[in-house]
Amino acid sequence: MKAKLSSIIEVQAPVAVKTEEPKKKPECYGVFCLTYDLKAEEETKSWKKLINIAVSGAAGMISNHLLFKLASGEVFGPDQPIALKLLGSERSIQALEGVAMELEDSLFPLLREVSIGIDPYEVFQDAEWALLIGAKPRGPGMERAGLLDINGQIFAEQGKALNAVASRNVKVIVVGNPCNTNALICLKNAPDIPAKNFHALTRLDENRAKCQLALKAGVFYDQVSNMTIWGNHSTTQVPDFLNAKISGIPVKEVIKDTKWLEEEFTEKVQKRGGVLIQKWGRSSAASTAVSIVDAIRSLVTPTPEGDWFSSGVYTTGNPYGIAEDIVFSMPCRSKGDGDYELVKDVIFDDYLWNRIKKTEAELLAEKKCVAHLTGEGIAVCDLPGDTMLPGEM
Ligand code: LMR
Repeated sequence: MKAKLSSIIEVQAPVAVKTEEPKKKPECYGVFCLTYDLKAEEETKSWKKLINIAVSGAAGMISNHLLFKLASGEVFGPDQPIALKLLGSERSIQALEGVAMELEDSLFPLLREVSIGIDPYEVFQDAEWALLIGAKPRGPGMERAGLLDINGQIFAEQGKALNAVASRNVKVIVVGNPCNTNALICLKNAPDIPAKNFHALTRLDENRAKCQLALKAGVFYDQVSNMTIWGNHSTTQVPDFLNAKISGIPVKEVIKDTKWLEEEFTEKVQKRGGVLIQKWGRSSAASTAVSIVDAIRSLVTPTPEGDWFSSGVYTTGNPYGIAEDIVFSMPCRSKGDGDYELVKDVIFDDYLWNRIKKTEAELLAEKKCVAHLTGEGIAVCDLPGDTMLPGEM
């Protein structure tokens, strides 16, 4: 079995026109081993052209929620066939086969191909979306600088692989922590892919912030809009209650308790991931998967008039005066074409700006810490001591 691990395992999906005798490949599973004429399906069902979605950390908990949403059509739509390219590690290859088997047993009509592998240069071939979830969690006694280095190396390699083999317009969503700096490392190692195409996932933080504001205001969470998370996916992140709205009214006019907003609300959102780890004994998985779905849907559907969404994106050219050349969560709008623009009409006060400067300082320090991975020289690691991933307590 081991000898085969370096090669991608190609499997194809069910429910289609059989073109020839089923070809048995040693690694494929049951119906996935059949070959199909997808073109015929596209013609009869007016389906869109198949898209390739690569997912790293595919045998993990987050992926276990996410992959079935992707395959069901709830993310890209009921007329969008997909191929899933699943990246795991040598250690997780058995589990990855289990994931492929469960996908097989689910008989998703839109899931046309599943392939699994451990080499990003094979798995990322022609990827139009890369959802980079896999990362090492911080182990006992490991310094944050150590985590940045270990995970940074993974994302440097994956950036290089994307640069070599992915679609030139691949959209990359980095989930593995520390996701902002991992996204920066990834984009620096993929110079032939637009830096604008890289995102660090802060949508989970946005969703958490909306939920807390709704709870305090006593409204359902669909009433909360214009919610920006500024900065790093860490305990320095800034949930912006100055620009957010409840039922179209500025939050500060609805929730008059400024002390709650500045202290309790902000900290609750910043540390929600850590509280969840205490309850679950592991990181959030289902809500992270949901927020990845939200993040993708925000890019492939037009943003509702007057609203926006948060994403960690490359700062170069930002209109706010945030330091250039880092990945920072900011308010974005999309026409639904996979691209986005930064929202210009936001306001700042001293409280908000001071908080933004703190999360910016943290990201600048993280950047110096990974200079050896971004091609910017020798790493100097002097991280602010009081900042953490949401999951660290
Ligand atoms: C979360 O926000 O739930 C996670 O990023 C926490 C973590 O550190 O894994």
